[in-house]
Amino acid sequence: MSKPFAIVTGASSGIGLELAAICAQQGFDLLIAADRPELHTAADRLRSLGAAVTVVETDLANTEGVDRLWAAAAGRPVDALLANAGHGLGHGFLDQDFQDARHVIDTNITGTIYLVQLVARTMRSRRQGRILLTGSIAGFMPGTYQAVYNGTKAFIDSFSFALRAELKETGVTVTCLMPGATETDFFERADMLDTKVGQDKKDDPADVARVGFDAMMRGDGDVVSGWKNKLQSAIANVTPAGVLAEQHRKVAEPGSGQEAHD
Ligand SMILES: NC(=O)c1ccc[n+]([C@@H]2O[C@H](COP(=O)([O-])OP(=O)(O)OC[C@H]3O[C@@H](n4cnc5c(N)ncnc54)[C@H](OP(=O)(O)O)[C@@H]3O)[C@@H](O)[C@H]2O)c1
Repeated sequence: MSKPFAIVTGASSGIGLELAAICAQQGFDLLIAADRPELHTAADRLRSLGAAVTVVETDLANTEGVDRLWAAAAGRPVDALLANAGHGLGHGFLDQDFQDARHVIDTNITGTIYLVQLVARTMRSRRQGRILLTGSIAGFMPGTYQAVYNGTKAFIDSFSFALRAELKETGVTVTCLMPGATETDFFERADMLDTKVGQDKKDDPADVARVGFDAMMRGDGDVVSGWKNKLQSAIANVTPAGVLAEQHRKVAEPGSGQEAHD
């Protein structure tokens, strides 16, 4: 119980698994969550790094699923919450199944902020804690053919700064990690492998996670991982939304990938 304790959501793959691995290497015990059995394989890797790992397989898109995760913490003080679980959904909005679109919102927004509220209240009482939210540079641009997803990340990017301000001088810091396109299961799960962004070279999730973890430990407000993404987000800030929406079409429209034309 003397080791610090972190909760990492979406720890079965991608950025979340790498965040959890860094936590393990830094001496944290872990409570990890995702909604597929691959999470148990991830837990084995994390245990091999020296962490005591509790695993909760649960759908974080609903409050009951989040309650199950929170119950597994069993009252142990949380030193760091890395709320990273999320997923995208490609194709035009009118061609998406509404329940699938809703699951993006429920996971990326509702489940995420519910968990943050539960954990942050205990952190505020203890006057210490670190929170890392995985937002995205997608939050800076309208996501043509990923419209709902980009909207959820705009929410998280904004929410993170607001909560950070509310928790000023409480000893609790809130940091938003804003990655660009990263080599994870994300694009396959979103059914975007035939898109340009799905096929382009992407960032290494271990590098992205390192940038996010370090920013969280410093207590920074936000961090955009990688210089190309920093440049892209700076340009997005001064580009009209309509232009950004058209640019997004070029990379996310179904069939926009090179291999789709071969
Ligand atoms: N990859 C990118 O280009 C990129 C860029 C910017 C931001 N991000 C953000 O980074 C975060 C991690 O994504 P990733 O790229 O690492 O993709 P990933 O490899 O697909 O990982 C997503 C993780 O979230 C979990 N998850 C998704 N929905 C869940 C739900 N309803 N309940 C429980 N767990 C759920 C997944 O678990 P299961 O597999 O068990 O569902 C998995 O562990 C997401 O918030 C994503 O939006 C990604």
